[in-house]
Amino acid sequence: MSTLSPSLPGGTWTLGDLTVTRFGYGAMQLAGPGVMGPPADHGGALAVLREVADLGITHIDTSGAYGPRVTNQLIREALHPYPQSLHIATKVGATRDEHGGWPPARQPEDLRRAVHENLETLGLEVLDLVNLRLGDAQGPRPGSIAEPFETLVELQRQGLIRHLGLSNATAEQVAEAQAIAPIVCVQNMYNLAYRQDDELIDELAEEGVAYVPFFPLGGFSPLQSSALSAVAARLDATPMSVALAWLLRRSPNILLIPGTSSVAHLRENAAGAGLSLSDEDLAELDKIGR
Ligand SMILES: NC(=O)c1ccc[n+]([C@@H]2O[C@H](COP(=O)([O-])OP(=O)(O)OC[C@H]3O[C@@H](n4cnc5c(N)ncnc54)[C@H](OP(=O)(O)O)[C@@H]3O)[C@@H](O)[C@H]2O)c1
Repeated sequence: MSTLSPSLPGGTWTLGDLTVTRFGYGAMQLAGPGVMGPPADHGGALAVLREVADLGITHIDTSGAYGPRVTNQLIREALHPYPQSLHIATKVGATRDEHGGWPPARQPEDLRRAVHENLETLGLEVLDLVNLRLGDAQGPRPGSIAEPFETLVELQRQGLIRHLGLSNATAEQVAEAQAIAPIVCVQNMYNLAYRQDDELIDELAEEGVAYVPFFPLGGFSPLQSSALSAVAARLDATPMSVALAWLLRRSPNILLIPGTSSVAHLRENAAGAGLSLSDEDLAELDKIGR
């Protein structure tokens, strides 16, 4: 198993004191349909995770809510005992209901339970990075986050969490959290076509805080754009490769966590994100989400 791979595009980033490859992996797609239950192909899911490690990827994104618990258990089954270089980021603050919904679970007791459950299902004594997942399925929602964030800070003081981040957060909530304790990343929805956070990304870059876009490939509805297809055709590349390469170029603090349940797609994405884009390509792509 390799450690930090010089062949992965984008190089590395430091989350607090943890070095990770900027090309990471999002595990959500490994659970069953609707991110509920086990995968149809258990062995295939384990193969994807082992390929993640073999490619030298050292940042995996997960959540106890995926499955629920399913992706954590798969990660543990495939990769435990973990290589020292591998860092697993998880999220707390949402749970699952019987319809597959994602109701918030941000009371102090919910968060304490979720942190302990993540430790147990991942087989860890300390979680490297815990994101407080805010808002709802429609996106961020305004409002104070002091109480849930302070609960996580307390768990961090107890030694159960190394670093904290926010997910699905507004810029005001990021500032509110930073006034309470340091955060190392913000994980929000962002891609070539959805660019609500342009300003926030630039601010975080100046502060040395990572921005981790979820749905980098469009999530459940893959990115589609004639401009994207035109650039991809010109470069003899796939639209997915162009979308990932664009994100790596967009800002040095962007960390990729594209999701896939396929070893072939994982390899394709790891290679494709290294595509080199000209100024002309960038100018064309820039117009998509503006
Ligand atoms: N914080 C939050 O609220 C939140 C919300 C959503 C997601 N996330 C995190 O963000 C990660 C990324 O988001 P995501 O996985 O939902 O969406 P995504 O990365 O934008 O897209 C994943 C989809 O693209 C497909 N895909 C991937 N590579 C491909 C390729 N080379 N060619 C064709 N299709 C390809 C996958 O299908 P295949 O399986 O067939 O490859 C899958 O359907 C998640 O895994 C999760 O860890 C966080």
